Order: sequence, then C-alpha cells, then structure tokens
Amino acid sequence: MKIAVGADHGGYGHKEAIKKHLIERGYEVEDFGTYNEESTDYNEFAIKVAESVRDKKSDRGILVCGTGIGMSVMANKVEGIRAALVHDLFTAEATRLHNDSNILAMGGRVIELEKAIKIVDLWIDTKFSNEDRHIRRINKIDSYKGE
Ligand code: RB5
Repeated sequence: MKIAVGADHGGYGHKEAIKKHLIERGYEVEDFGTYNEESTDYNEFAIKVAESVRDKKSDRGILVCGTGIGMSVMANKVEGIRAALVHDLFTAEATRLHNDSNILAMGGRVIELEKAIKIVDLWIDTKFSNEDRHIRRINKIDSYKGE
C-alpha cells in the first residue's frame, strides 16, 4: 500500500512522525510537504494528497493541520475523495467500516502524537464493511455533483 501524507505548519511534527512510523511498518510513503514549521496554507497540501489518491497514484492519504478541519474541507472538494476528520479510535474505525474513507485528517493541535499514531494504525488496518447500506450511502456521496 502506498500512502500520501501532507501537512501545514500546524501538523508538520505529527506528519513527520507518522511518515517515519509508516515507513517502519513497511509502507511506501509519498510526502507532499510541508517540509518545515514555517507558516503556510493547508490548501495546497490537501489538494496534492487528494489528487494523488483520486488519480490512484496513492492508495490512501493522511493530512494533518492544526485542527484537521481545513485539510478535510479542502480534500473533500476533490472528486472521489472521502476525507474523514478523526479525533479518536472509535471514529477512525467507524469511518473505514461505514464510509470507506480514503483520506484521514487529524489535528496536530488536538491529538497527542501517541494517540494519532494509534489512530493511523487502526484506520489503515480496518477494511470497509462492504455492507449494502454503506455501499448505497457512499454511492449517494460519490454521485452527487453539487448542482
Ligand atoms: C493554522 O493556524 C490553522 O488554521 C490550520 O492549521 C488549520 O487548523 C485550519 O483548519
């Protein structure tokens, strides 16, 4: 599995640690930045990671900003993206089972690093339930064009 990661200054530290952890777990990781703690806009990193997932260059994406909110809102503008803003283990598992989320967004100023890593592992390891009702709901998300 190849995982795209991205962060702004609010998520840089977490992103670096998550990247290291994923590589140690044997995953291929593409890091779309940011590459330091200088203040920057989350938008470009969210778009790069989301487009990588949309274009199937990455299987999943992980985005971290201060709250995770800007990243998730931006990533969800990209077609085919289901970015889930997650703060705990329950929602990490539920969003894989129910939403088949392909991007995990977290807040570096919200979640302690140790917990963020546990969330990452659970989110990666949980398979979509494939239950009819969840497939139906996801199809309704993916087919909505916002007109
Ligand atoms: C940056 O200060 C902060 O606004 C950003 O990281 C993120 O939390 C936005 O949603």
